[in-house]
Amino acid sequence: MSDRSPVLLLTGASTGIGAASARMLAADGWRLVLAARSLEKLEELAAELGGPDHAVAVECDVTEWADQQAAVTVALEHFGRIDAAWANAGFGGQRSFLADTVEHWRDMVLTNVYGAALTIRAALPGLKETKGHLLLTGSIAGRRAIPGSLYSATKHAVHAMGESLRQELDGTGVRVTIIAPGVVDTPFFEKVPLDAPLEPDDVARAVLFALSQPPHVDVNEILVRPTAQPM
Ligand SMILES: NC(=O)c1ccc[n+]([C@@H]2O[C@H](COP(=O)([O-])OP(=O)(O)OC[C@H]3O[C@@H](n4cnc5c(N)ncnc54)[C@H](OP(=O)(O)O)[C@@H]3O)[C@@H](O)[C@H]2O)c1
Repeated sequence: MSDRSPVLLLTGASTGIGAASARMLAADGWRLVLAARSLEKLEELAAELGGPDHAVAVECDVTEWADQQAAVTVALEHFGRIDAAWANAGFGGQRSFLADTVEHWRDMVLTNVYGAALTIRAALPGLKETKGHLLLTGSIAGRRAIPGSLYSATKHAVHAMGESLRQELDGTGVRVTIIAPGVVDTPFFEKVPLDAPLEPDDVARAVLFALSQPPHVDVNEILVRPTAQPM
């Protein structure tokens, strides 16, 4: 792999959409910094993707600013550049403002919203140098309010953050893309609530599409649902 191969920092890379996308992007020639809390899973994935010339694992809790800064430092020191950063880490909760613990709520808001903002803040200086690309994982739940869902509110915040960031970065050459999936069969769900959900690869193809555009094209948002999803 050449030193000029583009470098993507990806949070939430240990399972689901992140892990599937890492595999697809590596096959497309991207070098990857894989970030999440489950270091062992990340290390297995990095080895599967070809080892340190292709992918490195970084233990990162996205709610910790020092972890996020360290992940960007790994990209810059190990690969020498950062071309894209994808704030993908996140999780959901039960439907009801009387369900889940308040601690679960705090962790979810901090991970989904504050964590995404920290990824942006940590990666942005390096991305300005490469005229790079920021991606955020939103959701259909960030486009339409889901009944009894604080998770839906966190994803509305992610969509607003993406559009706000796009406006701030206008003219810098840095692109911003929100990836907004419907139901995807991942460990996000204890039981997937649809018969025919998206597979993680279906989302990975959307990410690859956004990343593959020429520099003057910014795919602002991709909303991708299963063909049969009522909401
Ligand atoms: N599945 C769906 O239907 C669906 C639909 C729309 C949007 N999304 C969004 O897609 C994104 C990925 O979810 P997924 O479906 O792929 O579920 P997943 O398989 O559960 O993946 C979630 C990822 O986030 C990481 N993560 C959670 N908290 C973290 C933290 N504090 N710091 C660092 N990493 C953290 C997890 O890794 P560790 O536990 O190892 O840290 C894992 O890699 C999430 O933002 C989710 O909201 C999912």
